Amino acid sequence: MNDTAQKITVEKAQTSKIDQVDFDNLSFGSVFTDHMLVCDYKNGAWETPKIIPYQPITLEPSSKIFHYGQSIFEGMKAYKDAAGDTWLFRPFDNHKRFNISAKRMSIPEIPEEYFIEGLKTLLRLEKDWIPQSEGSSLYIRPFMFASGKGFHASPADEYKFMICLAPSGAYFSGKVKVLIEQTYSRSANGGVGYAKAGGNYAGQFYPTQLAVKKGYNQVIWTDDNTHEYIEEAGAMNIFVRIKDTLITGPTSDRILDGITRKSIIEIAKDEGIPVEVRKITVTEVVDAAKNGSLKEMFGAGTAAVVSPIAAFGYNDTDYDLPELPNSYARRMKERIIDIQYNKAEDIFGWRHKV
Ligand code: PLP
Ligand code: COI
Repeated sequence: MNDTAQKITVEKAQTSKIDQVDFDNLSFGSVFTDHMLVCDYKNGAWETPKIIPYQPITLEPSSKIFHYGQSIFEGMKAYKDAAGDTWLFRPFDNHKRFNISAKRMSIPEIPEEYFIEGLKTLLRLEKDWIPQSEGSSLYIRPFMFASGKGFHASPADEYKFMICLAPSGAYFSGKVKVLIEQTYSRSANGGVGYAKAGGNYAGQFYPTQLAVKKGYNQVIWTDDNTHEYIEEAGAMNIFVRIKDTLITGPTSDRILDGITRKSIIEIAKDEGIPVEVRKITVTEVVDAAKNGSLKEMFGAGTAAVVSPIAAFGYNDTDYDLPELPNSYARRMKERIIDIQYNKAEDIFGWRHKV
């Protein structure tokens, strides 16, 4: 145990809710474990993290989070292997991205040891909450927001960093049908699209609701300038397979630099699959769907893992995608899950023991 881990205080819950949870029928992110991590930023410095029973928090109505939306988050998962050991997947990348988001939103960066050691201490305490059933895992939600008060439109002087845990099943239930967006935009050049800022998600809700009314689950965002290029979906990066080539768009300041995305690029290369990271036009995808060379489309993300897309809509037409027996989506999902659950050798060095 290092110095930081030793300093983290733990106040244990008097009772546990674990017996009330149906681990065989978990939805995504709707039940929470017995404890959470809280860390306060006051007087220009982060205090040592504390682990306390999961409970409501008290904030002033004038806290800047409510008015100016200074709020960021991360999405991670903890996996339990057959021997009962707990693993994280590329957690240092999540910490790095958290601080990239923090910087963009004028939130003070959190030291690596508070993030990593805080999370590991919390996970060791909540070990029994990590589901072992196929397709389930413990979803980890680190988040950070302006708790400092005042109506002046400027960064707050106080912040909270917290981590909550939710035993979770699949993010999508059933087939994924997406709509390629032609009117609204998720982000713009020079904006905050690359940050996991809460407001990026709030801004997606209305266009996504419109798409849901038309029978789609998610929107695929296109570039704000021309709506001609495929960017990403609401909660995942996008891959398309044209003939045998796997293609994904380049990251930019409009797109989240997904950890699953970059892992899939490496896995696909390792499998000998031709991979291209380049701009993808909507026209190219629609034409490929029409002439049969569009073999697959799938989303990639921590919550979504690898989610095959069954159909996409564009210009009032739906294009169905075939279900391939040995799809790239399936191969990528198996490889990544086998690494995450410690079922296969991790040649990339991504797995991290808790
Ligand atoms: N894009 C968006 C907008 C997301 O919210 C997510 C989820 O975190 C992703 C992509 C995928 O990122 P990652 O693979 O790091 O979870
Ligand atoms: C994740 O995949 O972890 C995310 O943060 C996406 C979220 C919208 C559920």
